[in-house]
Amino acid sequence: SEAEKSGYPHFMLKEIHEQPRAVMETLHGALHDQLIPEAVELLANAEKVYVTGAGTSFHAAEHFSITGTRLAGKPIISFISSEYDTYLPAAGEGDVLIVVSQSGETMDSLKALRAFKRKGVRVISVSNVIDSAIPRESHVTLYTRAGPEIGVAATKTFTTQTTLLTYLAVRLGEATGQLDAGEREGILRSISSAGELVKKALEDTGERAKKLASAISRSSSAYYLSRGVGVPVAKEGALKIKEIAYIHAESYPAGESKHGPIALVEKSFPVVFVIPNDTYLETLLLGNIEEMKARGAFTVGVGPEGSRAVELLNDYIPVPRTHWALTPLTHTIPLQLLAYYAAVEKGFDPDKPRNLAKTVTVE
Ligand code: G6P
Repeated sequence: SEAEKSGYPHFMLKEIHEQPRAVMETLHGALHDQLIPEAVELLANAEKVYVTGAGTSFHAAEHFSITGTRLAGKPIISFISSEYDTYLPAAGEGDVLIVVSQSGETMDSLKALRAFKRKGVRVISVSNVIDSAIPRESHVTLYTRAGPEIGVAATKTFTTQTTLLTYLAVRLGEATGQLDAGEREGILRSISSAGELVKKALEDTGERAKKLASAISRSSSAYYLSRGVGVPVAKEGALKIKEIAYIHAESYPAGESKHGPIALVEKSFPVVFVIPNDTYLETLLLGNIEEMKARGAFTVGVGPEGSRAVELLNDYIPVPRTHWALTPLTHTIPLQLLAYYAAVEKGFDPDKPRNLAKTVTVE
């Protein structure tokens, strides 16, 4: 009902604004969760670690694969849950599968869980719904505390999943001994201010995202590019604008442009660059921005304040500069708002996208 939207025109906008609180509650939950050490032990002793999910939850899974590999020095294999068959033959006892599912009811993810379990794989799930099917069948479940999400497009469930999984990656890094003390300090300091970071990103980017939405809403197609830890965030941005504004958006690691996709780029083609909080990745992306600019693309950046990319780009949305692993918490915010305002600009109801269901319980 209107009352439940607390004055916001749509649930999606309300839920976008609930993120500072949702990520803090999720973090506090994780800090006190007795099951975290259990999950960390399973992961640290695992022969192979897999992580899976569908849609937005797959993007959170990919984030864990990247942060886990970088912070804990343990390769983590991510796959889309409906593709589990491909990965099953190599899985067995001694391996661990993390299933990420906000609803805990997605059939593709449940089927992956069951198939891996039958092979003796231990299962850790990350869910937002207590006692849903996936948690019920898992060995260990870690819960996000986003509260109920009504909008079909996932928003606060993604930022809470990535908060929890980043924290898990840090703890795994401690367990494997790969994470040096300085980096551990830096990331824990940043993650403890996750709520403020998200709040600042909301305050700083709302108006700019709205303006950009009116420019981009007339386009039929766009690219969302990044590197490393920014890639799942770029994919999430592209998914959002597809889902609710019906703009065809493709996301791929920026280095691939020259291997095909750049053939499509002509004057005014929108290219959104997610520039992570990582100076090495930022430097690599400068070349990719130049390359798109040379073809006349309309280039937009979402990245840290004071980035060297600013002067190359047609438009720039600055977000708070923080540890690289927290890129989903800052950069996702303007991408959610961009999709939201583009949908509204085009006259669509962002809460009820056509052809989509909040939870898909069929294969
Ligand atoms: C559906 C929703 C998506 C969601 C996906 C996975 O397709 O429309 O927004 O990301 O399911 O849902 P889950 O509940 O498993 O995270």
